[in-house]
Amino acid sequence: MTSSFDWDTFLATSELTTQVAELDEDQRWSTWPETAHTLDRGPQPFPDWVVQHHGAIDTELGVLKTGKEADAFLIERALPQELRTDQGGEATLMVAKRFRSPELAAFHRSQSYAEGRRTRDSRVSRAIARGTAFGREAAAGQWARTEFDALCELFSAGLAVPYPVQIVEGELCMEFIGTDDDARPVAAPRLHEMRPDETLAVQWAQELRRFVLDLADLGYAHGDLSPYNVLVDPRSETQRLAIIDVPQVVDLVANPHGPEFLERDCVNVCTWLRAHGATERSADPEEWYEHAVRRYR
Ligand SMILES: Nc1ncnc2c1ncn2[C@@H]1O[C@H](COP(=O)(O)OP(=O)(O)OP(=O)(O)O)[C@@H](O)[C@H]1O
Ligand SMILES: [Mg+2]
Repeated sequence: MTSSFDWDTFLATSELTTQVAELDEDQRWSTWPETAHTLDRGPQPFPDWVVQHHGAIDTELGVLKTGKEADAFLIERALPQELRTDQGGEATLMVAKRFRSPELAAFHRSQSYAEGRRTRDSRVSRAIARGTAFGREAAAGQWARTEFDALCELFSAGLAVPYPVQIVEGELCMEFIGTDDDARPVAAPRLHEMRPDETLAVQWAQELRRFVLDLADLGYAHGDLSPYNVLVDPRSETQRLAIIDVPQVVDLVANPHGPEFLERDCVNVCTWLRAHGATERSADPEEWYEHAVRRYR
């Protein structure tokens, strides 16, 4: 009897990986195989840098930032050096954003973002409302899921956000916006650290205005748009922006506070842009708001 499955090669490769690799404390096997094909992975086609090998290893390289609700880690996902053949998809850097079980205070604050968004499982809703351990874990998982789904939708619609690679429980992995010259990773600077000239400030105003309007087309406001949640992509020759931190995207139609969030987003970035060289015309929060509102109504 012949089988189309090549067991010899399969066993040889798995053995090779386990022989070659011994996991350190800051390592784990790639969690890619744990993800369900359509729900937990980013939009297809997968970019060719995404590492899909089952024998790949995740190594935590360090903390990018710790926050109240989530911590961001820099992760390398790679085949052991000995198994690489110099093709794409064998090694990459990613940002792993891990949501914590939120504190009660942070959680109360989160209520107005979530209005109009419902949890299908009422057992989960009740546990979240009571703040039980199960509820806190479920809430962390929900924030991660909300951000992952939002990134998928925005990325697919062509908005300037990092590519979302995968989600496993409360951890989502996304494209690392930064450089890795000589294996020395440097994360993209945030907008608030930058001192642009007028031309660049106006370019950024146009990019952010487009982002706000495109997002309104989809029926959302960012909800926390600020120079702290905008990265300047060092891989782009023209210093293009990438927008991050979208777990609180606000549904402009269902959420009664939607327009207030939209207005605040516009004011936040326009204030910074004007203070840093953009013309009043290019960064006019009222003009942005008026145009955005017309998009979803
Ligand atoms: N895809 C990415 N590429 C490079 N750096 C990133 C990426 N995502 C996040 N970071 C870095 O990690 C920081 C925290 O990310 P993010 O804003 O998503 O998390 P947060 O915990 O909600 O932060 P905060 O509470 O400060 O808004 C960012 O300010 C940025 O410096
Ligand atoms: Mg942030």
